[in-house]
Amino acid sequence: MAHSPQFWNRIAQRYAKKPIEDVPAYEKKLSVMMTYLAPHMKVLEIGCGTGSTAIQIAPLVTHIDALDISSEMLDIATARAQSAEVQNIQFLETDIDRFDAAPQSYDVVLGMSVLHLLEARDRSLASVAQLLKPGGYFISSTPCMGDFMAYFRYIAPVGQRLGLLPTVRVFTSAELEQAILLSGFSIDYYWRPSKNKSVFIVAKRKYREPTPHQ
Ligand SMILES: C[S@@+](CC[C@H](N)C(=O)[O-])C[C@H]1O[C@@H](n2cnc3c(N)ncnc32)[C@H](O)[C@@H]1O
Repeated sequence: MAHSPQFWNRIAQRYAKKPIEDVPAYEKKLSVMMTYLAPHMKVLEIGCGTGSTAIQIAPLVTHIDALDISSEMLDIATARAQSAEVQNIQFLETDIDRFDAAPQSYDVVLGMSVLHLLEARDRSLASVAQLLKPGGYFISSTPCMGDFMAYFRYIAPVGQRLGLLPTVRVFTSAELEQAILLSGFSIDYYWRPSKNKSVFIVAKRKYREPTPHQ
């Protein structure tokens, strides 16, 4: 994990300039996401990167806490929010695993292109469940490389050791779905444009406490 912030800091400017890979898919995800938002809501985004999604949805909710481990990503996000005159986003430099907020603080948590980058995905999912109000939603989009390039699990550690890659985890969409269910959610919406594209999941936090992961 130690090198991940450095990796994201190094590529932040390039990441900011990179066009969205699949605009229709992103727009569909955004429009589905928006149906889960309302003006009274408090939202958390984990791994907000350069802030694009948070800035788009900010007018629809009362407040967004947007966190990321990369200070360079957050600098770009802050500048973008300022130029868009968006004032209800607080950008925070922290790891999701170190983020300290009261349980049930949020109505919605977003995790766009980040679950595969987490050191301990299931522990982070448990934190997300804790941070959400019962009945709240966790909205995520995740490349599940286990479905279409499982061999990457052997390449990733080498790339990480060489500093060419951040922490990357390879899992299948079925494994991700199972992990989300085990963290105390039910699946409300599931969509994937095609097998090698990110899986978009809207998961609803159950009203009772989750059973711990085995
Ligand atoms: C692929 S980018 C996605 C950024 C943004 N969500 C988007 O969709 O464009 C992943 C982001 O997650 C951040 N990140 C990686 N691991 C993290 C962690 N453990 N806690 C918080 N942020 C993390 C990285 O710094 C990076 O900005």
